[in-house]
Amino acid sequence: MSGRLIDGKQIAADLRGNVARRVQEFRDATGVIPRLVAVLTGDDPASAVYVKNKHTACEAAGLGTEVIRLPHQTTEAELLQVVHRLNADPTLHGILVQLPVPPQINPQRVLDAVAPLKDVDCFHPENVGLLVQGRPRFLPCTPAGVQRLLIHEQIPTAGRHIVVLGRSDIVGKPLALMLMQKGTGANATVTVCHSQTRDLAAITRTADILVAAIGVPRFVTAEMVRPGAVVIDVGINRVDGRLCGDVDFEPVREVAEAITPVPGGVGPMTIALLLENTLTAARLQVVPRSPGTV
Ligand code: GUN
Repeated sequence: MSGRLIDGKQIAADLRGNVARRVQEFRDATGVIPRLVAVLTGDDPASAVYVKNKHTACEAAGLGTEVIRLPHQTTEAELLQVVHRLNADPTLHGILVQLPVPPQINPQRVLDAVAPLKDVDCFHPENVGLLVQGRPRFLPCTPAGVQRLLIHEQIPTAGRHIVVLGRSDIVGKPLALMLMQKGTGANATVTVCHSQTRDLAAITRTADILVAAIGVPRFVTAEMVRPGAVVIDVGINRVDGRLCGDVDFEPVREVAEAITPVPGGVGPMTIALLLENTLTAARLQVVPRSPGTV
């Protein structure tokens, strides 16, 4: 049996269409174009591709968008200065500092400097705190993308065991939190595994849903997956010039009930959720022309 493919590309395209309609309504009601600025520091080729894709998606959704490119030698003080300038600009609503930043820059200090209402990545401690307390202002894009996929595919989560492989601040940690909280696409029993976890395969084999977000190409093998489980692959790795995920796709598909491909799974969802967060940021910052119109 070959597991069903979860078509993230199509689901994301539908969501992007939906965001585009709501962006148009917002523009009609307020006269304001929600605007996102991405800051790309250095010359990491993968980051350049991600930022370009985000930029193109913003344009297609009717969002204003700009990319600020800074050289690899940019100092932390210089990057902070840019962030402060963007914070103070009332014509832009979302700020995305693309990671990784070059090694001379402490990413935490830069992310902490982003105005919380413009923090469309949901990386600022104030927004992470709100998320932890179950009253999110923004949802982090990749974890929210995973959750939307599960909801769209009507994959039940309540009471089920979800194993998250990886404990990063961007994916593993917030995703585990979101899945265990009350709400749609949540209420799960969540286990987080990482590089220090003993007898990893014994744990992953107990998962009803297994999420791979560890950044190691094809790490998850068929032996690590319980037959009939759902497998969500968050990894984006480049091996011999080709993209692959954190899951050894073909053999794992043979045992899984459903699986996301790479590319075309979680990646497009991340971008769609970024567009949605940019609209949310604009709603939070723009005073409507008259109450109830937005
Ligand atoms: N680098 C890899 N993923 C992300 C992301 O979701 N946001 C930002 N800002 N940088 C990233």
